[in-house]
Amino acid sequence: MFKLVKCAVFNQGLRKEKFISETKSVCAFSTKNNIHSYEQVNASKYRTQSVAEYYAGKKVFITGGTGFLGKVLIERLLSSCTQIDSIYVLIREKEGQTIEARLKQLLDVPLFDKLKQGKPESLNKVIPIRGDIAKDNLAITQEDQNTFIDDVSVVFHSAATVKFTEPFKSMIRVNLEGTSKIMDLSKRMKNLDTFVYISTAYSNSNKPVIDEVIYPPPKPLDEVYKFIEKHGNNQEEIDKFLVGLPNTYTFSKALCETLVQQDHGHMKTIIVRPSIVTPALQSSLPGWCDSWVASTAMFSDVARGLTRVIYGQRDVACNMIPVDYVCNLAIVAAARGNPCDEVIVYNSCSNTNNCISWKQGADLYLEESLRHGRVPGALKPRKVAVSSSPFVVSCLTFTRQTVPAFFADLWLRVKGEKPRYMKMQKRAVLLRDLLRGFTSTNWVIKSDKAQHLMATMSEEDRVLFPCNPKSINWKEYMKTFYSGVQKFMLNKYQ
Ligand SMILES: NC(=O)c1ccc[n+]([C@@H]2O[C@H](COP(=O)([O-])OP(=O)(O)OC[C@H]3O[C@@H](n4cnc5c(N)ncnc54)[C@H](OP(=O)(O)O)[C@@H]3O)[C@@H](O)[C@H]2O)c1
Repeated sequence: MFKLVKCAVFNQGLRKEKFISETKSVCAFSTKNNIHSYEQVNASKYRTQSVAEYYAGKKVFITGGTGFLGKVLIERLLSSCTQIDSIYVLIREKEGQTIEARLKQLLDVPLFDKLKQGKPESLNKVIPIRGDIAKDNLAITQEDQNTFIDDVSVVFHSAATVKFTEPFKSMIRVNLEGTSKIMDLSKRMKNLDTFVYISTAYSNSNKPVIDEVIYPPPKPLDEVYKFIEKHGNNQEEIDKFLVGLPNTYTFSKALCETLVQQDHGHMKTIIVRPSIVTPALQSSLPGWCDSWVASTAMFSDVARGLTRVIYGQRDVACNMIPVDYVCNLAIVAAARGNPCDEVIVYNSCSNTNNCISWKQGADLYLEESLRHGRVPGALKPRKVAVSSSPFVVSCLTFTRQTVPAFFADLWLRVKGEKPRYMKMQKRAVLLRDLLRGFTSTNWVIKSDKAQHLMATMSEEDRVLFPCNPKSINWKEYMKTFYSGVQKFMLNKYQ
């Protein structure tokens, strides 16, 4: 049923042979099989000790530790799994900074303040490993490999390029080939219990219902390489090639899932798929965020009067999930383990359990913002209008956004100041248009398996590792969300 496609297409990167499924029937089999084996698993085969007990004395390896999710993952492990032995973090040298300097920078953010005050010695458990997932052999020296290869119990592979605008070729090199290399390294870890891959719920956003299964790849891998060779970064051709996926990022993550499924070998493997990751809710620093991800940037634009109309319908789900909920789910999932041979997929998303729409999220954020008074230097904010008609959105953009920004700039000129509102306005429109697919589409993102996993958690673990979106009070959360953006993104400490 599987057709063997030799993927030694590029000179570097994925050199070995991989099974690439080419037909829908093949993958329908995989999908069915995945559910089947999951349901067959006897619950008693999952580890039942507490999550912290599982990590006691264990060593874990993390990629992407300097990123938005990675930092919270490290903090959660250090704070809630106090007996963990060590956390190896793959870090690349960047902008002339050594990995030691980057680690210091990583631990210097306010997220780690509580640990620094209460358990400063725990930060010594974080050990940097020089490496780069885009380079041959991950650019990890043999000497460094020897320090962890025998003892690591869990790998969390979170590193990826998440820029929607990244050139296609480099997207594939980092996300797909990088994942392949990390899997090769993980397979050589003698005492590995679980390999956890952080994917995204949107890797399957060309489907109306996104279940916790691995879907057929959007294109066979050899076709992807041929396409890149022929068309490079030609956006028009890329749009046609993506088979309904919104960008090359989600496309590359979909290919990664197929790779993980087909290449995990004997590794017990779990995929965690977050949707839109938002500021922390309950970690040691509620509101923590250091990334302008989708809704964070858009809601901030709404509060600053820059966005007053968005594409979509009023009830389109926003699919927000706080960053600590995603990391806690990944930590819990690895602690429980995967007792079957198939990859287990957990969607980390609020969509089918406690849904909130873009409109509701934007309104709540604005309400909270207005409670603190108008943002200084911002235009007068208004509740967002929502429409799926490009004509209506264009008209409302002109009347509700462009005209006020134009007159605000005119006033600045009269006062002898530099105009800025039209420029800010254009950037806000660009972001809104980039997010159009997300604000206009109502996916059903199922999370039955994740819910099943959460149901196995003890009361104590639920307190230490909150990850169930059902427990989120959105009105309260948007207060935390707003203050987090003010403090950590806009440096307005209140
Ligand atoms: N944020 C979201 O809303 C969201 C939603 C769904 C899924 N996800 C997934 O979650 C994961 C983490 O995302 P994030 O939001 O934390 O992204 P992020 O803040 O941009 O972090 C990306 C991480 O990957 C690392 N990385 C990138 N290229 C690398 C390379 N060549 N070698 C080594 N490390 C490299 C970065 O290291 P440097 O610091 O050196 O650049 C950084 O640590 C990704 O897999 C993403 O697909 C995120």
